[in-house]
Amino acid sequence: MGKEIKAHGMSFPMKAVQSGLITHHMTAKNKRVFTYNIKPLLGKPLKVHFIASNKDVANFLRDGENLDLSNYDLSLGTGGANSNFFISAQKSVLKEQWSRLNQALDMEPRLDRFTGETPSFGKDADYGFIGDLAEDAVNVTCAKLLESSISDASLNSRYKFWKKKRPVQEIDIIQDYGNVITYYLVEKFVGLTVEGKDLSSKAKKLRFMMGPMFFNLFINPGAKRPLISWVSNLISKKYKRQILKCYETASPDTLLGRLKRLEPQYSPEKISEHQTYAANIIMEIAGSVHFLTGSGFAGIIKSIDELEDLPKEEPGISNTQFCKIIDRVSENPREKIDEYLRHNSPTDFIFRTARKDFTINTLISSNPTDVVNIKKGDLLCLLTGFASKDNSVFSNPGLNEPNQSKCLRHKYLHFGSPDINPAKRRSLYPDPSAPHHPCFGQYWARAILHKMLLGLRQFDGIHTETRGQFKSNPLNGGTYKMRIRPSNLPSDKMS
Ligand code: HEM
Repeated sequence: MGKEIKAHGMSFPMKAVQSGLITHHMTAKNKRVFTYNIKPLLGKPLKVHFIASNKDVANFLRDGENLDLSNYDLSLGTGGANSNFFISAQKSVLKEQWSRLNQALDMEPRLDRFTGETPSFGKDADYGFIGDLAEDAVNVTCAKLLESSISDASLNSRYKFWKKKRPVQEIDIIQDYGNVITYYLVEKFVGLTVEGKDLSSKAKKLRFMMGPMFFNLFINPGAKRPLISWVSNLISKKYKRQILKCYETASPDTLLGRLKRLEPQYSPEKISEHQTYAANIIMEIAGSVHFLTGSGFAGIIKSIDELEDLPKEEPGISNTQFCKIIDRVSENPREKIDEYLRHNSPTDFIFRTARKDFTINTLISSNPTDVVNIKKGDLLCLLTGFASKDNSVFSNPGLNEPNQSKCLRHKYLHFGSPDINPAKRRSLYPDPSAPHHPCFGQYWARAILHKMLLGLRQFDGIHTETRGQFKSNPLNGGTYKMRIRPSNLPSDKMS
């Protein structure tokens, strides 16, 4: 029997500690698994087995025999009675939720999820309805940002008083631009709105409402920190109530409105059950559109900052440089966006629960007698972030060329289990009983992210102060300032 490395703590280790432990005990020593024991003050201990190699993570994401997704039910079934997270381990719930979502998407005009996956996908990619909505979102946000940069009276008077030259307006390209665009999409596409004085304050409120649910999932597996679970429960109930409030008046073309239009199929005593299903679906879809796409955009900007070959002598990323990068993205949007996300993804790891006892060989160069025992109920933490940089697969530590990325598509894990050749799949919709759960919204997400990048060309003076100024933050995706010139006016076409 192989020696198990012992590491423990009262709760799941924070990212920095996790990274240190894994680099030290695992990747450097060619180990396949590293076990961490959570020993909380109250309640049962929990074993978390970290897995980092690309091959192992991909295999475990498809392993429905040994693993299930009940961790989602534990961490995210927080919206009150009968709430289940969309990606539930309960087969009957899962089947019902998918069936209702599919019917809603199939209503005319049909909402295609494989948007952008056409042979002509490229510079003039037609992303269908989601592309049009994303373009509206970008234009509205740019217009607001540019307008406020021109007419910020308080700034002007403050600078007049101090007899200083008015500075060039600074905006935060994650908070003021990225998060606002994704909020707009939550309103117009998903059908969920929150009250607030403007788009920016509404976006902040929405983030506050849905953030704890995602936060709890990733930093509190097994709900071993009761205070975090309690806060998450409380706020998630508010989030669900807000969805149910919007359900009544949702515009019929939005996802929520489409789900409401299914109501006549159900007898009066089944209506409230349908509303709960609808709310569960929207809790995840709205969360992913806003939270994951917003943080994904932050990741892309971070990758551009860290990895694109920009002239070192100039501080910041000038508008000209930025436009060149965006042009290159447009030549191969899918490959470039995936490559940026591979380096900095909002989803760094995914949990699975062992549904029975089994063993894993400890060393990558397999020695069948050197094993770690996995017990029913233990967690596997599949480190997609590490696996995405596994140098046995991605030998180039920088950015891969689009052609190279295309060949490696089946190794990219930031959208979960890879969805290879989607157009060839037998069904447009995932099979709820299948063990693997590739991201359902990934085609929409890429389209939105591409439009967001294109939108940045509307500012004729993008200029970051210094490179490497990105500050990450798990709740809001991070922050990255850029300066825009007040003389700039939004152009009405992004082309
Ligand atoms: C339009 C935005 C998005 C929507 C609507 C969306 C929706 C979903 C849904 C419904 C699932 C569950 C699939 C299933 O149960 O079969 C899922 C899974 C997943 N999504 Fe997304 N998503 C979006 C954006 C993103 C982004 C930007 C990322 C990260 C880059 C991401 C990462 C993932 C991952 C890693 C999984 C797999 C989870 C697992 O296997 O446990 N998603 N997504």
